[in-house]
Amino acid sequence: MKPKVLVTREVFDETLAYLSEHCDVESNQEDVALTPDALARRTADKDGVICAIPDRIDAALLERARGLKVVANIAVGYNNIDVPVCTARGILVTNTPAVLDDSTADFAWTLMLGAARRITEVERYVRNGEWTAWRLKQWMGIDVHHATLGVVGMGRIGQAIAKRAAGFEMRVLYHNRKRVDEGIERALKASLVSLDELLRESDFVVLQVPYSPETHHLIGAAELAKMKPTAVLINSTRGGVVDDAALIDALKKGTIRAAGLDVFENEPNLDRRFLELDNVVLAPHVGSSTEATRRAMAMTAAKNAVAALTGGRPPNLVNPEVADR
Ligand code: DGY
Repeated sequence: MKPKVLVTREVFDETLAYLSEHCDVESNQEDVALTPDALARRTADKDGVICAIPDRIDAALLERARGLKVVANIAVGYNNIDVPVCTARGILVTNTPAVLDDSTADFAWTLMLGAARRITEVERYVRNGEWTAWRLKQWMGIDVHHATLGVVGMGRIGQAIAKRAAGFEMRVLYHNRKRVDEGIERALKASLVSLDELLRESDFVVLQVPYSPETHHLIGAAELAKMKPTAVLINSTRGGVVDDAALIDALKKGTIRAAGLDVFENEPNLDRRFLELDNVVLAPHVGSSTEATRRAMAMTAAKNAVAALTGGRPPNLVNPEVADR
């Protein structure tokens, strides 16, 4: 008998074809998020679940899924999964690192450049038919080239963001739990500084830390107050790393100049006050969303699940201690 797998959201044909070779697949290809109860009910008799950021794999669901062996997230972040409970129950948890680093870094830069050059404002202006004349002082933005970039969280994606700064001849600062390899620092021409120094010095602050209780509201009113009034904040990692109410206040008062946001607290029901602000570029959590990358993420998750269910070691284990037991 093949192991039973639930795929919670729409994936690609090749993902399902690959999974079906190895597993008995039940999938939600309607692509409407399952309610917590439907998700728990449909996971209850499965050996594996392939899920995504909006699916909460919590203690209550895990309690019902007594035969579950693997939770394969289609994402690098996994704050939607109760990893300690999975680990305690001997359930493997996997994610999709590496395949999305470059696309996600590109998108952080999209937000940076977009916020600096006011791309959403000028685009609206042209579309609305308001463009009647060229003016010297029209829609002036700020320069990205030769500015100071501050990357908070120098993991793989943070490094990919910093790497792109060379072409813009930027000074690169970073803040991280620990210093990155000296060779990497040298290649990126990046200097480790305290969070305070990074906030004080940077023209562009890009957040790339995973979300956890430790990083909840890492950037709140006090941190925003430390930033330059000309600075731009980019959140391309997870909602909750920024205190959105404090950011709205800072954007309104001009504490900082602008923001570029791909993620929000309580997304997709973001604080509607963001919609009234011109100095913020908004995106619907699409940092990794290029066709090639999303295909690679789905296939990576499928391969992780199949490895776990066929006696192999999934390549992208979040809790390797379970496999090592
Ligand atoms: C991730 O991989 O964590 C992204 O946020 C999903 O797009």
